[in-house]
Order: sequence, then C-alpha cells, then structure tokens
Amino acid sequence: MHILRKAVALSLIAGLGLAGAVAQAAADPIATRQAIMSSVGAAAGLGGGMMKGEIAYTPAAGKAAITTMRAASLSYGNFFPAGSDHASSDAADAVWNDAEGFAAQLAKFAVAAAAAAEASGKSGPADIDAFKAVFGPVLGTCKSCHETYRKQN
Ligand code: HEC
Repeated sequence: MHILRKAVALSLIAGLGLAGAVAQAAADPIATRQAIMSSVGAAAGLGGGMMKGEIAYTPAAGKAAITTMRAASLSYGNFFPAGSDHASSDAADAVWNDAEGFAAQLAKFAVAAAAAAEASGKSGPADIDAFKAVFGPVLGTCKSCHETYRKQN
C-alpha cells in the first residue's frame, strides 16, 4: 500500500514535469517551429545526399529521413499563434494574412510525407530507387511554401 502510494506520487510528479515542458514549448512557438524546420532541413540533407550518391543509402537512414518529415508535417502548423510574427522569425506575414493558403501548403507536405511513410514499411525503403520514388515528392513541397510563406532574406 505504502509503495503503491509512493508510485502514484512519483508518476504525478513526472506528469507535472512533462506539463511544464509542454507549457514552455507553447510559450516559445518561434523557437519550437524553427527547431522543427531545422530537423526538416537535416532530414532533407540526409535524404538528398543519399539521392545524389554522396551518402551511402541504407533503409534505416531512409526511414529516419522519412519519419522526421512525417512528424514535422503533423506538428509544424501548431506553432504559429497570432502575434508570433516577430523580427527573429523568418515566417512571412502571409502565414497569418493567407492562413488558408499556408494550410494548403502544409497539407501538401503532410500528404507527401504520409505517403512516403506508408510506402517505406517497417524497416524503410529497400533500395535507393524505392527511396527516391517517395522522398522526391516530399522535397518537392519545400520551395512552393517557402516562396510565399518564408521571408526572402
Ligand atoms: C508549409 C510551409 C513549409 C514547408 C512545406 C516547408 N517549409 Fe521550411 N520553413 C517554412 C517557414 C514559414 C520557415 C520560417 C519559420 C520561422 O523562422 O519562424 C521555414 C524555415 C526553414 C528552415 C530554417 C529553419 C531555422 O533554423 O530557422 C529550413 C532549413 C527549412 N525551412 C527547410 C525546409 C525543407 C528542406 C522543406 C521541405 C522538405 C521545408 N522547409 C518545407 C515553411 C515551410
């Protein structure tokens, strides 16, 4: 009984810690979305490098690049609250002025990443050609969103 109560108390404390971390992420949406896009950039570097033959292809690396894209595409849109258009951010005014258009670009990204995840199975696309077939369309969604919704520096 005593041990059980202790376990409940500990899991409550762990839960509070997690809530604190989540609150912090929500409090800094710019840093959060930039970290997400930074992981997208890294996944594009890995996947693109394998497509160009600069990095040896393995199904595990292909899977890592694809799952990073998928997670990013699902979460990215949550970090653009009103008022988070700030000098330290490269998000263009169009994100807020044309929210529908931004959502459409996000949807394209999410559909391509979901299709890639679906096709890659449990252990990743078997070879580089299978990887190219599904990762190419994901990379095809970057430019059209950046053109309108990312500040051109
Ligand atoms: C739905 C729109 C959208 C899509 C799709 C998108 N991006 Fe972005 N990206 C943005 C916006 C908006 C920013 C600027 C965000 C900010 O500074 O707050 C950005 C910023 C970035 C950054 C800079 C991150 C940093 O450290 O601040 C990188 C790298 C990047 N994108 C890579 C990519 C790649 C590679 C793809 C395609 C696989 C992609 N993006 C797809 C909207 C998008």
